[in-house]
Amino acid sequence: MTDPYSDLGAQDIALQERIAAAMEARCLEPAQIAIRKAYMEDLHLPEGARALELGSGTGHVTRDLLELAGAATAHGLEPSPVMVDRARNSFDGDDRLSFDIGDAKATGFADESFDLVLMHTLLCHVPGPEDVVREAFRILKPGGVLAICDGDYSTATAQIADFDPLDQLIKFMIHQNVTNLWIMRQISGILAETGFQLGARTGHGYVAEGEAAYFLTVIDRGADRMVEDGLLFAETAEALKSEARRRVAADTFFGFMSYVSQIATKPHSL
Ligand SMILES: C[S@@+](CC[C@H](N)C(=O)[O-])C[C@H]1O[C@@H](n2cnc3c(N)ncnc32)[C@H](O)[C@@H]1O
Repeated sequence: MTDPYSDLGAQDIALQERIAAAMEARCLEPAQIAIRKAYMEDLHLPEGARALELGSGTGHVTRDLLELAGAATAHGLEPSPVMVDRARNSFDGDDRLSFDIGDAKATGFADESFDLVLMHTLLCHVPGPEDVVREAFRILKPGGVLAICDGDYSTATAQIADFDPLDQLIKFMIHQNVTNLWIMRQISGILAETGFQLGARTGHGYVAEGEAAYFLTVIDRGADRMVEDGLLFAETAEALKSEARRRVAADTFFGFMSYVSQIATKPHSL
C-alpha cells in the first residue's frame, strides 16, 4: 500500500479521522512543541509578516507561525477536508488564522505573496518534493524565509533490547506511511538547485515522554495494519498493543526519532 498521507483527501473518512487524531496527539506533546520552538523562534520576520504552512493538517503548527515565529497572519493549505474542518473548528475565533483545501504543488497564490513558508513533516509524504520547493520559491517574497522540518525516519525506533518485537511495528509503519525516508538528507541539494540560500540546519532528538501518546498511535495503527495485511492474528496485535501500554505503565517504554530542520532564504536579487 502506498503512503496514505500522500493523498489523504482520497482516503476513507475513518482513516482520515484516525490520522487526524494521531497528528493532534503528536502536535500537543511537549517534546514536539520544543522541536518547533527550537527552529521557529529564530526566523526574524518583518513587521506584519504573512506566513503560510503547506500541509497544515490539524492546524496546530500553523498557529505556531503566530505564537512562535511572530507572523501577523498565518494560512494553512491542506488537501484533506477532514483536516481542514478540524483546523477551522479548533481555531475558530482567531481571525489571524485561516485554512483552505489545496495542493502544495499548485497553491494558486500570486508570486511573492508570503514572508514565510513552512513545511513541517510534509515533504516526506510528497512524491516529487522538488515541485513543492519550486512553488514555495515562487510565492515567497525576495528575502522571504522557507522553514522545513521533517523526520529522519530511518532513526525511528521503540527497541529496548535485541529482537524486540515492538520495534517491528515502528519499522512497518514507517515503511507503510512515509514516501521518502531520506528527505532531510536530500533537501539541501534540492534547495540549492532551486535558488535558495541555505541557512541553519539543526538536528532535534525526539524521545516519547509520559504517556507516549503519539508513539502509541503508531504502534496501534501498525498492529491494526498488520492484521489487515494478514501478517498478524487480531489477538497477537492486541497483545502487542498491551505490551506497549504495560511498558508505559512500568516506565520501560522507549520511543525515539531524530528530526532535522533546515532554514533557507529566497535571495533579494535573482
Ligand atoms: C504528517 S501530516 C503533518 C501535518 C502538520 N504539518 C503537522 O505537523 O501536524 C502531513 C500533511 O501533509 C498533507 N499533504 C500531503 N500531500 C500534500 C500536498 N501535495 N499538498 C499539501 N499538503 C499535503 C497531508 O494531507 C497531511 O495532512
